[in-house]
Amino acid sequence: MASIAIIHGPNLNLLGTREPGVYGSVTLTEINRRIEAVAGDHVLRFFQSNHEGELIDFIHEAASWADGIVLNPAAFTHYSIALRDAIAAVKLPVVEVHLSNVHAREDFRHHSVTAPVCLGQISGFGWRSYVLGLHALFGYLEDRP
Ligand code: DQA
Repeated sequence: MASIAIIHGPNLNLLGTREPGVYGSVTLTEINRRIEAVAGDHVLRFFQSNHEGELIDFIHEAASWADGIVLNPAAFTHYSIALRDAIAAVKLPVVEVHLSNVHAREDFRHHSVTAPVCLGQISGFGWRSYVLGLHALFGYLEDRP
């Protein structure tokens, strides 16, 4: 049984009403419920913050209890070296997820400063990106010697 942190970055608390054409109309609470529904006996802890430092603090704390992280860094993806350094520091396996296909959007979204220190990135499948990310993380943890 694994313990996984599911972390949502800035503005994701507004899902449901925030640019539904881009991000869909499912709320964050409902997304968390759908992630929980596929977690079986695994333990999930959910966290959302609009503040870079709070996200970093939560990642640091996760090092003491989590086996891995599914993270949507939202806009911080594209410029937060501090978040990248926190991911690299804790040495936990992290899967980066995005609801939208960041590679099909504005140029500034094509680059992720966080993805190189993650196991991989899943982008473009709406709320299912989180479910795919969680499955990828479970697979990684299962295969790990
Ligand atoms: C996002 C993509 C980011 O570029 C954007 O800043 C977000 C959400 C996504 O899930 O598609 O806030 O991470």
